[in-house]
Amino acid sequence: MTAYTADAADADFRDEGERLSADELAALQLKRLRDTLYRVYEHVPFYRRAFEKAGVHPDDCRSLADLSLFPFTTKADLREEYPFGMFAVPRSEVRRVHASSGTTGRPTVVGYTERDLSTWADVVARSIRAAGGRPGQMVHVAYGYGLFTGGLGAHYGAERLGCTVVPASGGMTDRQVALIQDFRPEVIMVTPSYMLTLLDEMERQGIDPRATSLRTGIFGAEPWTEEMRREIEERLGMDAVDIYGLSEVMGPGVAQEFASHKDGLHIWEDHFYPEVIDPLTGAVLPDGEPGELVFTSLTKEAMPVVRYRTRDLTRLLPGTARAAFRRMEKVTGRTDDMIILRGVNLYPTQIEEILLRTPGLAPHFQLRLTREGRMDALTVRVEARREADAERRRTAAAELVRAVKESVGVSVAVEVVDPETLERSLGKIKRIRDLRTPRE
Ligand code: DLL
Repeated sequence: MTAYTADAADADFRDEGERLSADELAALQLKRLRDTLYRVYEHVPFYRRAFEKAGVHPDDCRSLADLSLFPFTTKADLREEYPFGMFAVPRSEVRRVHASSGTTGRPTVVGYTERDLSTWADVVARSIRAAGGRPGQMVHVAYGYGLFTGGLGAHYGAERLGCTVVPASGGMTDRQVALIQDFRPEVIMVTPSYMLTLLDEMERQGIDPRATSLRTGIFGAEPWTEEMRREIEERLGMDAVDIYGLSEVMGPGVAQEFASHKDGLHIWEDHFYPEVIDPLTGAVLPDGEPGELVFTSLTKEAMPVVRYRTRDLTRLLPGTARAAFRRMEKVTGRTDDMIILRGVNLYPTQIEEILLRTPGLAPHFQLRLTREGRMDALTVRVEARREADAERRRTAAAELVRAVKESVGVSVAVEVVDPETLERSLGKIKRIRDLRTPRE
């Protein structure tokens, strides 16, 4: 367990892992990688079969680059092994499970040993500290508690750091605002879209968001843009930083942005080894090139993952605040969220970026996909800001159409609707409504 004690007041506090030099880190990674490969080969029939099929053995991994010899693992593989086939320890040693919602098929189940839960708390504690949170502060956790990893992951990390945790979970928005007013937390951990819902509720109750106690927002679980950061920071008077993770790899706390830098997310590479690949060919790309993020866990016991394809798009950059750890650029989208509109690829974040730069438009929007004849069409439904009159709304709609055409290269329709008419997020927001009937 990491102790945040002696130098807890030091803003540049580093735990043991954060003190490693680049060479020490690389040596530790190789050792942990080899241990992981042997562990899954010995204990998970799925991996033994996959390695044999690819003609590789853990002995073949003599350098970090040799990882590319090993096969990928996908969400479909995890579904095939439902519920506990990916576990590398007897079920009785698994202290907790989490699971994805399974809206698109069987859920994927993940498991943690006692030590895994402790490692997870350590990396989330490290993340909160990087975000600017300090022992003794109060953390309001509005990520959902339950099978989703957000709530409990944030919770144990905040406790590990030595914070007071308010386990608010998602929903009952009016009560959450009252709790924030009464308890005066410095830190909030929540999806950026639910933060907007909380902001609306504050304003509805006549509370000035800038006058609340919140000074640090740790936002993740869904893509969000620099423009959204600006919107939230200005309306709340706080640092808004990005936290990344996924249940298959651990949960929140795989990578974290430093409040002091706000330049992308440092990957906690002593526990999670990243690669970026070409999503079509699977080839490993050099740092700096955009592609699909792939993770291999280095310390997990219950459910290690080898070359897990996240479907998230980003690129790897050199470390700044922590030189030994590489950064990942803010995730702009998932391969699954990509809309192909008349041959042009488009991500919801591109629309978010443009509409937040358009005066008169609020950060609440939905994308509707329909089919007109044989052509797909996209309608952006976006709320007007309260102060925008009819004339401003008309101009804003025209500006958005033009800006999307100019920067993305495709024509969309824009419908500016009244404030507070679109459905609000309670957790992860669903931006795309696909109303197309399947092709015959
Ligand atoms: O969303 C874990 C998490 C909880 C992360 C709270 C951060 C905060 P899953 O439900 O398994 O786990 O979803 C993982 O969410 O592959 C990304 O597509 C997306 N995602 C997570 N964090 C970010 C982020 C949690 N900061 C999936 N930016 C991932 C963009 C994110 N997308």
